[in-house]
Amino acid sequence: MSRDDPFDTTDISVLFVCLGNICRSPLAEGVFRHLAIERADPTRLSIDSAGTGGWHVGHPPDPRSQAVARQNGISIEQQQARRVSPEDFSRFDLIVAMDGTNLHDLEQLRPSGSSARLARLRDWDPEPGDGDVPDPYYGGPDGFDRVYAMIDRSCQALLNDLLA
Ligand code: 4NP
Repeated sequence: MSRDDPFDTTDISVLFVCLGNICRSPLAEGVFRHLAIERADPTRLSIDSAGTGGWHVGHPPDPRSQAVARQNGISIEQQQARRVSPEDFSRFDLIVAMDGTNLHDLEQLRPSGSSARLARLRDWDPEPGDGDVPDPYYGGPDGFDRVYAMIDRSCQALLNDLLA
């Protein structure tokens, strides 16, 4: 399908995962949903995010993630952090980790026999660097700008791949 077609009818089922589910994966969820609803049938999208750790369960995204999303026209403040569950490995076709540690933790959590595909987000980044979306939690706001750019590039390429 070409980029000019209004939407595709492919089922898209993606869970984005980081450590706390308050900085990186909420941004990836918001960016990817924003891109996907422009090009795919919204009723066939299943997009969510979760964390491998439980410290922030029920919390909204970090205010710095909310701010960088808002600057780019994307609203993520309605999201609530949750932890990855065993059911996620059957509910989602693709589980996308932000970094290698998240990926390793997901491999440990994966129930035997689950068919979900696991990957890192920057596997799709045309400028992949070391392959990790770095954790911006303990840094300044410029870290969130850099993370946003990586997530945006990677989500565009991921969506192109899933719709190809
Ligand atoms: P995230 O960032 O994994 O991108 O949501 C973090 C948020 C909180 C903590 C660590 C990373 N924490 O240790 O509380």
